[in-house]
Amino acid sequence: MARGLEPAASAPGAGERPWTDDAVVYEIYPRSFQDSDGDGIGDLAGIRSRLPYLEWLGVDAIWLAPIYPSPLADYGYDVTDHKAIAPEIGTDQDFDLLVADAHDRGIRIVLDLVVSHTSIEHPWFRERPDFYVWSDGPEPPNNWLASFGGPSWTRDPATGRLYLHSFYPEQPDLDWRNPEVREAMADVVRHWVGRGADGFRVDAVDRMVKDAELRDDPPAREPFPLPMPEALLRRDLVNSRDAPDIGIALAALREAAGRAPLIGEVYLPVARVLPYLEHLDAVFGFDLLHAEWDADALAAAIDRSSAAGGIAWVTSNHDFPRVATRWGEENARAAAVLLLTLGGAAFVYQGEELGMVDGPAADPVRDRYGRDACRRPMQWDPTPSGGFSRGDPWLSPVDPATRNADDQSADPGSILNLFRELIGVRREIHGTPARIGSPDGTLAFDRGAHRVAINLGGSPAVVPAPAGSELVLCTAPGAAELHEGELRIGAHAAAVTCER
Ligand code: GLC
Repeated sequence: MARGLEPAASAPGAGERPWTDDAVVYEIYPRSFQDSDGDGIGDLAGIRSRLPYLEWLGVDAIWLAPIYPSPLADYGYDVTDHKAIAPEIGTDQDFDLLVADAHDRGIRIVLDLVVSHTSIEHPWFRERPDFYVWSDGPEPPNNWLASFGGPSWTRDPATGRLYLHSFYPEQPDLDWRNPEVREAMADVVRHWVGRGADGFRVDAVDRMVKDAELRDDPPAREPFPLPMPEALLRRDLVNSRDAPDIGIALAALREAAGRAPLIGEVYLPVARVLPYLEHLDAVFGFDLLHAEWDADALAAAIDRSSAAGGIAWVTSNHDFPRVATRWGEENARAAAVLLLTLGGAAFVYQGEELGMVDGPAADPVRDRYGRDACRRPMQWDPTPSGGFSRGDPWLSPVDPATRNADDQSADPGSILNLFRELIGVRREIHGTPARIGSPDGTLAFDRGAHRVAINLGGSPAVVPAPAGSELVLCTAPGAAELHEGELRIGAHAAAVTCER
């Protein structure tokens, strides 16, 4: 039966929690999800045709990575019109149909707000130079570095002035200290809320506001715990990003969004995200995504994240190697148990439910920063195109013959069916995770009457189980069993028990 939804446009009631709080949000990278018209590029009609699958899987929402017109210097994260849809991705009508159909199925829509910068081809760059950050001297005014390498200042050949960009030179940064920029982006948010968006993932939030005096970044005082290019790791990035008055920007988005939740991509350790949570409903927890597959490292990341509050759990996305590639194919199922039992919002990147691995580097290279590997198309069936497109896919699929949704949905022991079961079971699990002592190489926590136990290593392990516990779920048939107060877990396996 359809699980219809209310519109998100009005302000939240007092004490009302955002719907994202315990939601499973499925990230769709639109170009790589489902092509409907044979041009080799995924599109909105394709996404709509796969809604029955997403409803079957049980997700609460889909986050669409950028669907806006873009010259593709950063594959959609360089936007030329924030209120329009890229022609290759669909039409306004396709969007309306997708929203209506998703809402009928109880699936909410989260859009990507790319607000810290625009494409250099955005009309604003010529018509509203005051929307951007410029320097008129002969040399860059400071030592700031762009995230994809090189200085973050580039000379505009048309005017001879230097402009600021936190990412590629084709992505000039907006000046969020300008109230007219804030109003222009608030208008974008209102536009999409009016069109039926239920929430937003806000891109690169920590780059939105920089030091007003453009002071140098000082040398690093302590190691930065998240991966970054070497040259950036040598600096303490306190002026080129993460300004203490970030609230001026976030308050504008907050007001425009009304009750639609805002989830921020803040590329900082969770210990530094609190100022962002004053205005955003949640921020991604990158400590967990970047932790080693090691019990102590994961436990520490989970503890730090839980202490921050408001962390949306994420173990992969369109920017980083997939779980099976990073943490090992043998651990993909246990990683799914971890992601979906921690409580709080959980973000599942398309294809993770099939245990997809990264592909080889693409030829020709599409993304200059090397992210094609984790953006290979979704694998729906065993045919050479994986059922992604009847044309020539913009990136070829990795291994559809051996890993695809059709085969896995028919196999009760597949990782796909494990994801589905987990999404169902998590609705019964309540309470804050409380880690419990467990043998080396295992990770265990309680949530209410439920116990989650993960064996990270290559030999069987035993975790205590309270008397009267029942096995609710495990990563594969026979991967765990309960025996007289002990939960025996096979290598690389995980289980959930419940005390009756
Ligand atoms: C975010 C996006 C990434 C993009 C960058 C610049 O990190 O996830 O894909 O390249 O912002 O917009």
